[in-house]
Amino acid sequence: MTPLPTIGIIGAGRVGSALGRLMAGLGYRLAAVASRDAAAAAALAAAVDAQVCASPADVVQRAELTLLTVSDDAIDSTAATIASTLGYEAGRAIVHTSGSRDATTLRSLAERGLRVGSLHPVYPFTGNVVPSLVGVAFAIEAEDAALKAQLTQIVAALEGVPIYIPPGKKAHYHAALVFAGNFPVVLYGLAERLLTQMGVEDATIRVALLPLMQGTLDNLRVQPPAAALPGPISRGDAGTLAAHLRVLADDEEARALYRALALAALPLAEARGVETAAMRATIEAG
Ligand SMILES: NC(=O)c1ccc[n+]([C@@H]2O[C@H](COP(=O)([O-])OP(=O)(O)OC[C@H]3O[C@@H](n4cnc5c(N)ncnc54)[C@H](OP(=O)(O)O)[C@@H]3O)[C@@H](O)[C@H]2O)c1
Repeated sequence: MTPLPTIGIIGAGRVGSALGRLMAGLGYRLAAVASRDAAAAAALAAAVDAQVCASPADVVQRAELTLLTVSDDAIDSTAATIASTLGYEAGRAIVHTSGSRDATTLRSLAERGLRVGSLHPVYPFTGNVVPSLVGVAFAIEAEDAALKAQLTQIVAALEGVPIYIPPGKKAHYHAALVFAGNFPVVLYGLAERLLTQMGVEDATIRVALLPLMQGTLDNLRVQPPAAALPGPISRGDAGTLAAHLRVLADDEEARALYRALALAALPLAEARGVETAAMRATIEAG
């Protein structure tokens, strides 16, 4: 088995603290921690038996693999600060944990000889508890084979599932996550607004909508999207679509979204053998 790299953590926030604690529990040696907030760095270092460092560059020099777990907006500046302090550091590696930034944001460190990449856990860390990441997907970006193997090993140790991101595809990957992870909340907000307009109380709205969304998610766990699609489009019900578009005539935002999503749903209906021509005509006319 490949020996485990020693780990450094820069940014003792939600992700840095959770990954550090989990990895320490899995046998990784946590060599060094740095954070702007000295108390946060000390608390994490004490929990994982690591040394607190005065600067991010010190962490990189003490660890074989550093996790740069600062907020997205601080990645560039932290990397630049490290690069301006370091000499040539061949053999060491550094990865950030952002879902939206790609590994090229660490270019200045690659120029210092570091192997660079990213490791994005697809999980909403709250900071309140150290979660189990068993079964969680992790996006891995690493052009260097040895770094890719180290990151794969971390994901395997956490019992997660790796997703390898080809060069230049990080934004593509992140857009997909925004569709699945963010936009359902927007749609909930829209549905809430429509029900509020007709006088339904907040508590009742939650009772109406949350089990509906949860049931759809449960179906998606066991069925492909075409089979899990509920509602009028799955039944080829063009008359219902026409009625919906009529009542949404006064709400341009809701109507435009309804039409766009209904059009996007038609291929799913087609995949289950539903005739969609009448629905398409209704949506396009609406
Ligand atoms: N939270 C999530 O659910 C989640 C999930 C997957 C990936 N991520 C990614 O993981 C990374 C960390 O996210 P997080 O949620 O752990 O953030 P967080 O809890 O806000 O922690 C961010 C850390 O960055 C440090 N930091 C912020 N600005 C800094 C600066 N200008 N210079 C140096 N350090 C700075 C903070 O240091 P001090 O507090 O010591 O000042 C803190 O330790 C981000 O790239 C995020 O996109 C987050």
